[in-house]
Amino acid sequence: LERTFSIIKPDATRRNLTGAVNAVIEGAGLRIVAQKRIKMTRDQAETFYGVHRERPFFGELVEFMTSEPVVVQVLEGEGAVAKYREIMGATNPANAAEGTIRKQFALSVGENSVHGSDSVENAAIEVAQFFSGNEIVG
Ligand code: GTP
Ligand code: MG
Repeated sequence: LERTFSIIKPDATRRNLTGAVNAVIEGAGLRIVAQKRIKMTRDQAETFYGVHRERPFFGELVEFMTSEPVVVQVLEGEGAVAKYREIMGATNPANAAEGTIRKQFALSVGENSVHGSDSVENAAIEVAQFFSGNEIVG
């Protein structure tokens, strides 16, 4: 079964939406096979979002991701990467489809409640940044 990496971002944990987001995830048939609440360090956030280093919003993004706790997760299911992207909705909640996590919960393009890997290859890299093998129980 395919796996993807998920982050419930600070805007969502701050508003006690961890359970609500997880209900959407599980309702879509994805299984949460690893999960922990952490405070991301600046190093972790800069590494994780390294591809965006040259973008104008990079500093703001790192500030946001380290501002308050996040919940990192590994989700498992058939076509998990694409399925999670679908139920997350568009990056900007103004463009997100009805019923998606971002449509329901996101505050803005920056504070958009969740992250999901954009490919199977990146999912493996992102999972390995935050979880050791024995923390993932399928
Ligand atoms: P992720 O799942 O978080 O990677 O979102 P994404 O793949 O839908 O978007 P992308 O990878 O293009 O951007 C990564 C993250 O950077 C977004 O989820 C936002 O949190 C943030 N971001 C993107 N564009 C903007 C922007 O214009 N302003 C701000 N403040 N943040 C942005
Ligand atoms: Mg992305």
